[in-house]
Amino acid sequence: MKEKEYEKLFSGFKGIEDDILAIFLRVQKKDGYISEEAIRRVSRFLKISENRLYGVATFYPKFRFTKPGRNTVKVCMGTACHVHGGQSLSDAVGWQLGISLGQTTDDGHFDFQRVTCLGCCTLAPVVQINDDIHDRVLVTGLKETLKQYE
Ligand code: FES
Repeated sequence: MKEKEYEKLFSGFKGIEDDILAIFLRVQKKDGYISEEAIRRVSRFLKISENRLYGVATFYPKFRFTKPGRNTVKVCMGTACHVHGGQSLSDAVGWQLGISLGQTTDDGHFDFQRVTCLGCCTLAPVVQINDDIHDRVLVTGLKETLKQYE
């Protein structure tokens, strides 16, 4: 985001601590994540340390701190999915994409997230890619599933 865009984004806020979450929500809506640059700008605007801002923002799972990929892979780690191999699936996604949880591939094609429940537990284990739900995903079939998004 450019200087002018930050000025526009901050307009309407009083510049007090109560504005933190609303500002971060706006930043994330605009950029898709909270960048280091955004943290610096918000810190200057609110006169609150960057550490304190990180502390607040990281408390809320809604906020992300890496640029999203063009395709988001979410592995469900809720109880039903965990029992049906969610951890192995999560490990396999990281291995297939060559990234760790929360990261984006170098080419920006995929990012990798975990979620606690996607609301379709009877279909466990479940992986969501963008808006698509993939049910009863096996580690052996993961490569083919990901291939659909290349
Ligand atoms: S636990 Fe995975 S969908 Fe509910």
